[in-house]
Order: sequence, then structure tokens, then C-alpha cells
Amino acid sequence: EKGGYEHFMIKEIYEQPKAVRETMTSRVAKDDSGITFDELKWTKDDVAGIKKIAVVACGTAYHAGIVGKYLIENLARIPVEVDVASEFRYRSPLVDDQTLAIVISQSGETLDTLAALKEAKNLGARTLAITNVVGSSIAREADQVIYTWAGPEIAVASTKAYTTQLVVMAMLATYMGAIKGTLAQEKVSELCNALRELPNQVHELLEDVEPIKTFAQQYGFNEDVFFIGRSLDYAVALEGSLKLKEISYIHAEAYAAGELKHGTLALIIEGVPVIALATQHDVYEKTLSNIKEVKARDAVVIGIGLKGDKQIEKYVDHTIFIPATNKFLTPILSVIPLQLLAYYAAVTRGCDVDKPRNLAKSVTVE
Ligand code: F6R
Repeated sequence: EKGGYEHFMIKEIYEQPKAVRETMTSRVAKDDSGITFDELKWTKDDVAGIKKIAVVACGTAYHAGIVGKYLIENLARIPVEVDVASEFRYRSPLVDDQTLAIVISQSGETLDTLAALKEAKNLGARTLAITNVVGSSIAREADQVIYTWAGPEIAVASTKAYTTQLVVMAMLATYMGAIKGTLAQEKVSELCNALRELPNQVHELLEDVEPIKTFAQQYGFNEDVFFIGRSLDYAVALEGSLKLKEISYIHAEAYAAGELKHGTLALIIEGVPVIALATQHDVYEKTLSNIKEVKARDAVVIGIGLKGDKQIEKYVDHTIFIPATNKFLTPILSVIPLQLLAYYAAVTRGCDVDKPRNLAKSVTVE
């Protein structure tokens, strides 16, 4: 059942090129002309009626929501707020009939997310579920559903569900931007083209895992690891940190790189591993200066950069390069080395990778 792999998690990591491709099938036009969602069929009026979007989810799906906020706000220019589901219900959210509530849940059974969905409906919101499980409770409760088509995810740590959620977010933001007219046809085509290249690029990243395995073995016994990045890189840092914590039990924290000097820099001392993501052009120089700050405290820095970046290597101890893509799609690639790092760290430490302590695949209690 593990198809020759040692764990479900690594099998699912390697299934990502296929999963990402399936998520796009029949949605991204072959001629790059645009995005279609047969399950939505939104008109210009439908999109114009959305004054605000509330994204609600837990854990990894919440991290996909944070990426979604960047994409929807940038490409479709609609304000988005993102909440952890267990918080949403208890803060009297400002949701009404001009709000679209998007809930994201791999399993479609997470109790807090389901309750948040019901709450949003009660407040009059239109609701859209993004889930991987056909006919799940959340799929049944929502007005509309987009399935991620990642195939069954068995390992507790979510991998292919996350990357396919990101693909859905990118397609949805492009779709809304195109309908609304905030996104020129040329940009739509560029995004479609870049989306269609993703499966091969994910595959390419999975071909050469030896350096990552080595880092995991080298740093796998450190008790603290920090992940830093700005804008979309920060969103991915959050996910990389969660993945490492949950399966390797290493204490990991993610910070917006610019926030470090407001407190956390005090924890950066000699030999502390810092994973620094620097894939976003518009904040690249700022991120580099944050990398220099941690290097000056003798941290060991592993940089995640874009292929072709000649500068980053001068400031970090090791670099992992990801293929160049549209800036809005980088999270789908940059998270792959972080998944692998978490996996190999857990293996190095002899952890039960597929069933980490205290955790369940589907959380149906509050
Ligand atoms: C982390 C992980 C969890 C889930 C969270 C939500 O790897 O898997 O954080 O993402 O429990 O689960 P779903 O998406 O099923 O609602």
C-alpha cells in the first residue's frame, strides 16, 4: 500500500507532481486562455457582489489560507481576512450577505472548521468549501465546493493536500481577477502558463533530495530551528515550521523576517539553524539584510532561493534552489524542500513519521 516507500508521508510527497496536475485538469485551459470552474460558473455580478472574503481553516489548511489572502488581494483586489477556525466563531466576526466565506479542509471533517462554516452561513454569507474528500461533512454543508483531487492522504502530516490547496487558491484568485477585470488577459495567460509548468517543476525538485537529507542529518538534533521570510515566503515559513514540529518534535518557529529584531533575535546564537526563504523579488534586498543579521550572530543559515540567484550564496551557509516561476506560485515549490527537511529530520530522530504523538488525522473534537 505504500508502493515501495518507507512511509506514507514520503509517498505522498512524491505524489505531488501528479496531485498538482490533477487539481488543474479541466480547470486551466490548455491554450492558457483562462481558468474554468464548472462547479462555480460565477458571473461578473457574482464576483462584484463579494465585498469581502473570510477564509477559515486549521493548521496546514490555515497556512494555505494565508497564501490565498496574498493571491486574492493581489490578483482580484478583494479584501480577505484569514482566521483559525477555533477563533473565528468566538470573536463576533463581521460577516454578512456580502461576504464570501471560504473554508479549507483536507478531510472535510474538522469540527471547528465545520462549525465556522455553519456560523458564516447563519450570518448570511455565501460559502465555498475547498476540500479533498468528496461528500465530506464540510462539502455537504457549503453552498459550493472545489475539490482538490489530491487523492487519499494517509500520513497525519499534510503535504499533497497543502500544495493542491495552494493550486486551488492560485486558480481561484486568477479566476476572480479575470472575471472582475482586475487582471489583464496577458497576466491571466502568464499565470496559466506558469501553473501548467508546476508539475514538472515539482518533479524536478524531488529528483535531488540528497543535500536536504544531509542537512536533516546534520541539524536533526538541534533543539530549536527558525524559519524566516517575507510576504509569501513568510506564509511558507509558517508551514515549514509546523511540519518540522509535528513530525520531528524539534521546536521550530516561523517569523516574518522583519519582525526578528523586535524580540526573537535574542534567541539567535551560534549554531542555531535558520531556514531563510528569499524567493520574492520585491522584498529580496530586505530579506537579505535580515539574513545578514542572523549570520552576524553566527546562526547556520540554509537559504531557499530561486534558481539563477547568484547573490544569496554569499550570505548563507547552504542554499537550496527552486525553479523560477510566477511569483504568486513560488509557495507551491518552496514548500517542497521544507517538507523533505521535516521528513528526513523525523527519520533521523527515529520518530513515528506517519503517526506523530498526540495527533490525529482528522480532528472531530473541539
Ligand atoms: C498538519 C496537519 C493539520 C491539518 C489540520 C486541518 O500537517 O495536517 O494541521 O492541516 O488539522 O485538517 P483539515 O485540513 O482536514 O481540516
